[in-house]
Amino acid sequence: MTDRIVVTGGAGYIGSHVSVSLLEAGKALLVIDDFSNSCPEALRRIEEIANAKIEFLKADLANPALAEKITETVRRFRPSGAVHLAGLKAVGESVEEPARYYRVNLNSALTLVAALEAAGAKRLVFSSSATVYGDRSQSPVSESAALGPTNPYGRTKFFIEEMLRDIARADPEWKIANLRYFNPVGAHASGRIGEDPNGVPNNLFPFIAQVAVGRRDKLKVFGGDYPTRDGTGVRDYIHVSDLARGHLAALDYLAREKSPGVIDVNLGTGRGYSVLEAVAAFKRASNRDIPYEIAPRRDGDVAEIYADAALAERLFGWKAEKSIEEMCADTWRWQSANPDGYGR
Ligand code: UFG
Repeated sequence: MTDRIVVTGGAGYIGSHVSVSLLEAGKALLVIDDFSNSCPEALRRIEEIANAKIEFLKADLANPALAEKITETVRRFRPSGAVHLAGLKAVGESVEEPARYYRVNLNSALTLVAALEAAGAKRLVFSSSATVYGDRSQSPVSESAALGPTNPYGRTKFFIEEMLRDIARADPEWKIANLRYFNPVGAHASGRIGEDPNGVPNNLFPFIAQVAVGRRDKLKVFGGDYPTRDGTGVRDYIHVSDLARGHLAALDYLAREKSPGVIDVNLGTGRGYSVLEAVAAFKRASNRDIPYEIAPRRDGDVAEIYADAALAERLFGWKAEKSIEEMCADTWRWQSANPDGYGR
């Protein structure tokens, strides 16, 4: 029987790749998205890549006036579970507007939980973040490291994880995976879907890509005096298609296993690259110059963080496979074929 999955935020950067992975694995999807940071064109391209149709509900999960309609639509879809990716995700913005971040991210999660309960589909994969670890952990960071996010965005991820832990504790029928992403980058190998940030990109890869394509003059490297091999920050970049496969593996694991109600699992490669190493790799992949200057450190950044990625492999039989070269080549294919993203 076809496995039926709800994907919230399924038109977004990570969501579009997750949707492709699930469709290609033969699952039927109901995507719920409000297009606040995505667009209908992404959905069209997902269907084109996977050669499959998606059911779609345009709705803001955080809007209480829509809760009933969302529950009804989810119930009628008869899902076996959900992947929850919808949410606000800009760290800086979350510092400026904490109440909005808590309202949108927490309410969205709670609305989905209620809808899944009504549908009798107590299986949930949640899009969490390595940001829940905060800045005190030694890398490689394992799932048992102390939690302590340092900004409101990170705390929404942490609080949702905690809520889900309580929910699973109270009702053993719930099966939940909190997936803690490291730094998702890259694009689908077709170059048809990828990251299309609103305004000036906050993150390294989209910024580099826009410099390479000539949309921006130069990259500011935030900090050249960290205690790392070349003085710049080190992160665990993971190809978004590997990350997407990790969601499929997590869903299938939750369907299989009788045991734990909640699992927390890192999705990373287990290896770190510095900003300058990433720039050099992108330069090779794109054959473009990437002018940069060393700028002051960015508030809230840590010197180095990368995953202990062993648990995902042990539980799910999943590991990241794509190299930094592929992350750069695929980002570049997407960016050069779509210099203005989806043109929204
Ligand atoms: N960087 C630059 N210049 C830029 C952008 C980034 O030098 O223009 C550097 C950063 O200082 C950092 C590295 O590139 O060393 C990666 O920065 P990103 O913004 O791409 O990623 P972060 O590791 O800061 O952020 C990621 C996720 C967030 C999450 C955060 C928590 O994108 O959602 O991890 O650590 F909250």
